[in-house]
Amino acid sequence: MRLAGKVALITGAGSGQGREAAVLFAREGAKVVVTDVNEEGLKETVEMVRSAGGEAAGRRVDVADAAQVQDGVALAVRSFGALNVLYNNAGVYLRGQDGPVTRVEEDIWDTVLTVNLKSMFLCCRYAIPEMIKVGGGSIVNTASVAGLAGTNFHAYSASKGGMIALSRSIATTYAPQNIRSNVICPGFIETPMTAEISGSQRLLQAYIESTPLHKAGKPLDIAYMALYLASDEAAFVTGGVFIVDGGVMAR
Ligand SMILES: NC(=O)c1ccc[n+]([C@@H]2O[C@H](COP(=O)([O-])OP(=O)(O)OC[C@H]3O[C@@H](n4cnc5c(N)ncnc54)[C@H](O)[C@@H]3O)[C@@H](O)[C@H]2O)c1
Repeated sequence: MRLAGKVALITGAGSGQGREAAVLFAREGAKVVVTDVNEEGLKETVEMVRSAGGEAAGRRVDVADAAQVQDGVALAVRSFGALNVLYNNAGVYLRGQDGPVTRVEEDIWDTVLTVNLKSMFLCCRYAIPEMIKVGGGSIVNTASVAGLAGTNFHAYSASKGGMIALSRSIATTYAPQNIRSNVICPGFIETPMTAEISGSQRLLQAYIESTPLHKAGKPLDIAYMALYLASDEAAFVTGGVFIVDGGVMAR
């Protein structure tokens, strides 16, 4: 098993990509600590992990709240004795409210930057000391292709671009402690976040047609990349930015 003996903390694991990764990581031998603000979703994820034969602990954690983040990290160590993998997956895209700098409201800007970027600072701040105690670890961060290319939703793009920069800085600063940090940049993935697009035959078709591989991404496409980066197979991989988008950015 590719994550045997590892303890992984996954944020935003109550749905979508975080949930898929929780189940896959558990199938590959990890003990998973799943957190989210969506308590119903979280419960379902814990049940899914357990019915796949894995071990899971779940806790409501708002990644924008330092005390709650600290609690989530403590839960991992208390439940399973260590923390080896941090997967910063939680995020928001405020469709209809985010926009160009001349239009986006200041409170929307602040919310998006806090939930998507400050959260990474907070999670890393509390997780890294625990990883150092056990000789190192892997931090996997979910940004977006929107952090690499221009978009019309500037708060989201800025937050994801910031995640890429922070991940690279963490990679270089903590490499001596054997902590790796990498970023996944998904393209369009069918999850609750993109339900409005998946739910519209016209919009979904437009995405598929503009994608070289001619299909929409699934949460499992991202979970497999996260699994690789979390595992010791990626022992020489840090500071990387991994695009998983069906070829869109290669055009
Ligand atoms: N779906 C896509 O097309 C796509 C593309 C690029 C990047 N992403 C990124 O992938 C990540 C996962 O998103 P997804 O597609 O699975 O969507 P999703 O909406 O299914 O999952 C996001 C999860 O984050 C949780 N969350 C939101 N705010 C939170 C907070 N303050 N504290 C804790 N949890 C919080 C939500 O409750 C939800 O369960 C996000 O960071 C997103 O920005 C998604």
